[in-house]
Amino acid sequence: KIPIWLDCDPGHDDAVAILLSCFHPKFHLCGISASYGNAPPNKTAYNALSLITAMGKAKEVPVYAGAQRPWVRAAIYAPDIHGESGLDGTSLLPTPTCTLQTDKSYLDAIEEAIKAHEGELSFVSTGSMTSIATLLRERPHLKSKIRYISVMGGGINEGNRNPNNSAEFNIWIDPQAANSVLRDPLVKDKCILVPVDLTHKAIATKLVEKKVLGDGKSNLRKLFYELFLFFGHTYEDIQGFDDGPPVHDPLTLLPLLEFYGFEQPDKIAFVYRRLDLHAVEEEDSPDLGRTKIVKEYALDDETGTIVGFELNMDFFWQQVYDALDKASLS
Ligand code: BDR
Ligand code: CA
Repeated sequence: KIPIWLDCDPGHDDAVAILLSCFHPKFHLCGISASYGNAPPNKTAYNALSLITAMGKAKEVPVYAGAQRPWVRAAIYAPDIHGESGLDGTSLLPTPTCTLQTDKSYLDAIEEAIKAHEGELSFVSTGSMTSIATLLRERPHLKSKIRYISVMGGGINEGNRNPNNSAEFNIWIDPQAANSVLRDPLVKDKCILVPVDLTHKAIATKLVEKKVLGDGKSNLRKLFYELFLFFGHTYEDIQGFDDGPPVHDPLTLLPLLEFYGFEQPDKIAFVYRRLDLHAVEEEDSPDLGRTKIVKEYALDDETGTIVGFELNMDFFWQQVYDALDKASLS
């Protein structure tokens, strides 16, 4: 199995990343850190605890408070897309039966997980890059011990924030943290970036929503169905997506299946480029947060961040349906 740590800001699409991390047979979820992002950190933490309770994993998956604020910028949340709670649109979220872990900090907990799976654990980031950047700044000795850092973030030819719509939210809210990881020669080549150029192809269409709901008997399926409906409405109103919302975050998990050798490359059909990137940091720039290409390498150079552009979306959705089947039975 692939040992992973998930840093997230749930978040409608983060909820699907949590689902896949918990129920895909090839992943072992060591822990979650819930960071500021789509909503303030106390809200994303509550959402993470509630989601793992809904999935029956409250006793198995430890949840820690992650990064509380960006490095330099003032915090900006996304109530326009995710609602004030960060996870609006359903009354089916249970009161958590677990609480945040307080025995140690998220940095200590992640360090322990990395050491328990040295050279094997991948860090999955579906919110800002503040948590991973802080970990690597405070504990640089961990840089060589992490296998991959798979990040939902950035955009090469597309975006969803800033005046030019040229930045992606997760990078835009903390470009300094993003740069400290993506510009670091010791880690940039093991970063996998899943930008909006790819995630805008993971649309939860009406057909997807129907399959998520199934026969409507499972509460968890209903919960996800309602989350998708809400997310679809805000994406239609704010971003003009009329076929359904893009479910960005769980796509971070798919390339790992290929890179660890658990799926054949032609199954995942992951198309990527190897790029050195730099996020625009200037507050007064209309391109603030945009991930610009600094350099491109040949694929077999194995240098530069792995930036995804395509993958097999039918395969992806099938993983989501399978995870829902498993979760609804447990
Ligand atoms: C990213 O921003 C958040 O709103 C989503 O959860 C996703 O991680 C997409 O730009
Ligand atoms: Ca997210």
